[in-house]
Formats: sequence, C-alpha cells, structure tokens
Amino acid sequence: MDEAIGHYPADKKRSAALPLLHLWQEHFDFINDEAVTWIATKLGLQPINILELVTFYPMLREKRAGKTHIRVCRTLSCAMAGGYQVMENLCAATGIQRKIDPAGAGHTPISMSPDGNYSIEFVECLASCGTAPVCMINDELRQNVDPSSVVDLIVNRESRIVNRPEPHPLEHRIIFKNIGRKNWKTDIKTYLDDGGYEDLRKAVKMSRVDIVNEVKTSGLRGRGGAGFPCGVKWSFIKPDERKPVYLICNADESEPGTFKDRYIIHEDPHQLLEGIAISCFALNARTAYTYIRGEFPEGAKILEGAIEEAREHNFLGKNILGSGFDVDVYIHRGAGAYICGEETGLIESLEGKRAYPRIKPPYFPAVLGLYMCPTIVNNVETLCAVKHIIAMGGAKYAQLGRSNNTGTRIVCVSGDVERPGYFEIEVGKVTMGQLIYQMAGGLKWGRQLKAVIPGGSSAKVLRADERFKIKQKQPDGATIEVEMSIDELPMDFDSLAAAGSMAGSGGVIVLDDSRDMVWALNNINEFYAHESCGQCTPCREGSLWMKKITERMLNGGGVTEDPPTLKTIGDNIAGRTICAFGEACAWPTQSFVEKFPEEFAAHARKSFPPPLPPECTPEELTEREQIPTSPLAHDPGWEKAGADAVI
Ligand SMILES: Cc1cc2nc3c(=O)[nH]c(=O)nc-3n(C[C@H](O)[C@H](O)[C@H](O)COP(=O)(O)O)c2cc1C
Ligand code: SF4
Ligand code: FES
Repeated sequence: MDEAIGHYPADKKRSAALPLLHLWQEHFDFINDEAVTWIATKLGLQPINILELVTFYPMLREKRAGKTHIRVCRTLSCAMAGGYQVMENLCAATGIQRKIDPAGAGHTPISMSPDGNYSIEFVECLASCGTAPVCMINDELRQNVDPSSVVDLIVNRESRIVNRPEPHPLEHRIIFKNIGRKNWKTDIKTYLDDGGYEDLRKAVKMSRVDIVNEVKTSGLRGRGGAGFPCGVKWSFIKPDERKPVYLICNADESEPGTFKDRYIIHEDPHQLLEGIAISCFALNARTAYTYIRGEFPEGAKILEGAIEEAREHNFLGKNILGSGFDVDVYIHRGAGAYICGEETGLIESLEGKRAYPRIKPPYFPAVLGLYMCPTIVNNVETLCAVKHIIAMGGAKYAQLGRSNNTGTRIVCVSGDVERPGYFEIEVGKVTMGQLIYQMAGGLKWGRQLKAVIPGGSSAKVLRADERFKIKQKQPDGATIEVEMSIDELPMDFDSLAAAGSMAGSGGVIVLDDSRDMVWALNNINEFYAHESCGQCTPCREGSLWMKKITERMLNGGGVTEDPPTLKTIGDNIAGRTICAFGEACAWPTQSFVEKFPEEFAAHARKSFPPPLPPECTPEELTEREQIPTSPLAHDPGWEKAGADAVI
C-alpha cells in the first residue's frame, strides 16, 4: 500500500484512494466499513471521501462476490452477437437466479449462485467488440464466447487475446506492425532487437521545440475521439513553465465499438512506453500517468512489467540515456465508469475523486490539469504515433493519409460483418465500402447493409442508402463538392464529419437489414443512461428518459408521441451540459429517429394526445391496447378526448 501511495506527490495522497481500494478488494473481496475507515485514515481523508468512490465506481463492491465472478458484456456489438443469451445460459449453468433491477432491464445488481461459487453481472463494453460476445471470468477476458456452450467457458480457463496475424493488403501497418508477427514477444529484448528505443535516443538529442514542431508538421490529430491536432495541444505548454508538467496517457478505452488500445498495450507495451517517454521529454513532463481502465487488469500488469524493464535499461528513471532528464511513468487503474475517459473526468478520478468532468473554462487541461498543473492528455494510439513521427520526421508522416487527415489510424470493425477486427489504414485512403466488404469480409450470411455507426456508439448513425455531399480538394488546390454513397465515403475525420457523423474513436459498428433500429438504439440508450455521471440535469434525466421511452417502445407500449419526444429530449441535452457526454448520448437518439422514421413510427403505433397523462405508468402503457383518459380539473380539454373516455 505504501508503494502505491508513493506513486503520487507527497501532498496528493488522495490520488492513491482507488489503488488502495483495488488492493483491499483483491485481498478481502469487497469493501466494508472497516475498509472505508482504514483507507481514509491512511490517506488523511474523511470516510465519506472513500465511500463516495465505492458508490460511484461500478467495479468496487460492498458485498462479497462468488468465488468465480463473471462479467458479461451487454453493449451493442456483444448484444448483437448473443451477449444476452450468454448471460441467460450462464445463469442456468451456475444455478443463478438473476436479480432484476427495476431501474434498468439490462443492468442488475450482482447475482450469486446458491452455493456462493459463482456470481454474475452485466457490464458495459469491455473493449473487445471485434471478438464479441465477450465476458470476463474473474480477471480473464474470454472472447468469441459460444452462447450455446457456456459451460466450457467456466471449465476451460484458457484464454488470451485473439489476434489477426496477417495484415490485409489495404492496410498500412506502422503502429500495429508487430502485432501478430511470428516470434514477436512483448519483452524488452525482442523490442530492442527490432530497433526499439532508437527513436527515444534520437529524441533526447533534439531540442524540445524541434520535437513539438515535428509533431505539428506531421498534422497528427488525436486518436481518442475529438481529433484535436496533437502538436497544437502540446504548444499550449509554455517552454519556461515553472509548475510541474504532467502527461497522462488515456488508456480508458470505453467507447463502445473501440478496441485498439487494449491490443497495443497487450502486444507492444514498449512501443507505448517509448512514445510516452519521447512525449514527456518534449513537454518537459517528469511524471506520466497511464490511466488504464479497471477492466484491463492484465494490461496493467503487462505495462507494469514493461516499465520495470525500461527502468532497468535507463529508458525511464533518472537521467535517461545520459540526457540529464528524469522521467517516471506510473500505472493508475480505473474501476469502471465510461466517463473516466473524458479528460477532465479522468483527471478528477486520478486525483482520487469521483470522475466528475470539470466545468469549462479552462478549456484545456494544458492550462489547469492534474493537481491544477499544466497537463497533456493523449490517447494510447496518439502517443504511439509520436514515436513514428520522430522516426520518419513530421513531413514524411504528413504524406501518409490525406490533407488535414494525416498518418495512419486503427479502425475497429464490429457487428454484422464476416471478419470483424482492427485494421490500420492510411487515414482517408480507404473507403467505407472497402473497409466493410474487402477488409472485414462483407456482411454476414449474404445480408444487406442497413446502417453504420462510424466512430464509436456516440457517432451519428449513417443509413446505407443515404447520399452524401462531400467537399474534396483537387490536386490543383480547388475544392469541389462530390456526391457519394456510403460505400464511397473516405474513412477520415473531415469526410465523416461532412457526412453528418464523426470518425471519433475509430470504432465502426455495422448493422445489417435484420436489425431492429429501435432495439439497437435502446441498447445504446441503456449504455448512456447507466454511464451518465449525473452532474447535469439534462444529461442525467434525459439519458434515462430516452432509455425508458425506447424500452417501452420495444415492449409494445410505444405511443405516437414517442419519436418526436425522443428528438426533443436529445435536442435539449446536446449543447447544454458540462462535458461532451451530453452530445455523445443525444446524437444516437437524434440520428436514429431522424434516419429510420418508419421503424420508430411502427413501434409507436398507439395514438395518444399530448400532454401525456401523468397517471399512466410505463406498465400500463405497455400492457393496454388503448389508454384511458383521466379528466383533469385544470384541463377540461381532456374530457373531450373521447366520448367513452378511451383514446
Ligand atoms: C464521454 C467521453 C469519453 C471519452 N473516452 C475516451 C477514452 O476512453 N479514451 C480516449 O483516449 N479518449 C476519450 N475521450 C476523449 C478525451 O476526453 C480526450 O479528448 C482524449 O483523451 C485526448 O487525446 P487525443 O488528443 O490523443 O485524442 C472521451 C471523451 C468523452 C467526452
Ligand atoms: S454531460 Fe453527463 S457525463 Fe458530462 S458532466 Fe454532465 S452529467 Fe456528467
Ligand atoms: S466488448 Fe462487448 S460491445 Fe464492446
């Protein structure tokens, strides 16, 4: 425990709260009052400071779990591949009677088998959507689970990350070049034999300003979701900054549909560490934290081992490579909660608090970040790209991809395709059609494409038969508008934004013509309703209402007012919240309702006059074919609604 506390500045011990809670839970299985008081005393805090974490982070539990604890992913790609059947069959196989939480159809409290050997719960996207359905048995990820033979899952404990060995001809692998390579191992010897850490050697001989300029020249845009230019972000750090500067590697990877960072960490941890070390040197950041989501316990161990190896070789630690520069990298594990990926939520979490995103301004943690010091937050893939920019030079990197959309990026394809997986492509050099039909093997069972969510579940859905007007730069510099189909859309930031969606985190979820779009949206809405941190009323209430409405529509209780009501709720969340989660939860609803009006109308067939009578419970709306009106004293209009008091 003291070692964990030592990872943070002496006056910032509160940051060690999550690590200590993890250690306690690993040892005693759950967090009781004694744990809360003990950890609070150890860190000089009040018990409430610890208790508020236990009640916020889903991975922390106040009751004992079974000897084998199972987490089943219920998010979209897994649900499409049979995640709910996995849950049902696991319950049957282990004798678990699942408790149903009245607040949510998907999420339930942890349920135990009568003998206490097993416990089970639904969790949100485990960042392995390409091998859906997945679950975790204790700390182990189990992929491509066959819903009909879940007993194997419990008995056979062998499981590792499934890799795609051969790159597709349309791929251009730089970051993923080692992944799946024959005889490739994650130890430092293999990495060094392959020329590893040479780019760090090169970087420490460069000036800081030159490194930042190379990154600026490269045009690298952040791979975490927003696509913000990395060099521009870095240049917010003053060269003569007097306060300590921090670098945070965002390894929270929890946007449904995204599963690239996990693979980098598992398969090539030294590449990431080299990128982090170079970036720290460039920013004069002497401490870096890698915030890794709690559901990646194996990834955290791999990175900790790699950090030790890098320290032994003086790539990290004091006076690295004789440069006079000291740098330490620490791993900080989250404990569930999607909002920890939002950079200011992440910083709060790293400070040992609930992951409540911070009110802006300041707009960038580069101004006031961790411990109110200048902080750069970058995604795992972005930091890996930095290493390659130093290797090849910013100008050469900028020649990859397209103008303003440079380099390579990893796109993750999941859903209804034959060969889901990740593909490293030159940005914009591959079209959506090539990605789906050539790289990912086309639609399953010869079905037709219905829709694509192109950048993680927050991205607006695109309909297969839409036409898009995209502005394209010609070789002579002129810009022309080109009309194109979904298949012709280039996979880059600007084209997907022009198509009305976004490239986001690179998670492409494909839906075929067998999918019910209300069902798909309801699954997404369940995710956002569960993950809202609850600070802003529009987000907290709106995400829950949207979920309740789509759930009711699915269960047969949809009324004609539902689609416009859904849209109004979405419109009243986006742009009215502290963080971009507001948009992330509104965009799916706004776009699904707009793009698939016929399906939403079909699910919303019961006529119903506004305003909705408050007397009707969701059960009544679902069960009754007709809704009785109830005259209200203050609204005589209701009495006229139907002669027999039935609408
Ligand atoms: C709700 C929400 C969740 C996010 N989750 C992640 C995440 O899991 N991983 C990530 O790198 N960025 C995530 N981001 C983006 C981060 O806030 C931040 O922009 C990013 O880490 C910056 O790194 P980049 O510039 O390298 O992209 C999320 C943003 C929002 C609004
Ligand atoms: S928008 Fe949602 S997730 Fe973001 S701060 Fe507000 S309530 Fe929390
Ligand atoms: S791992 Fe299940 S949806 Fe991503």
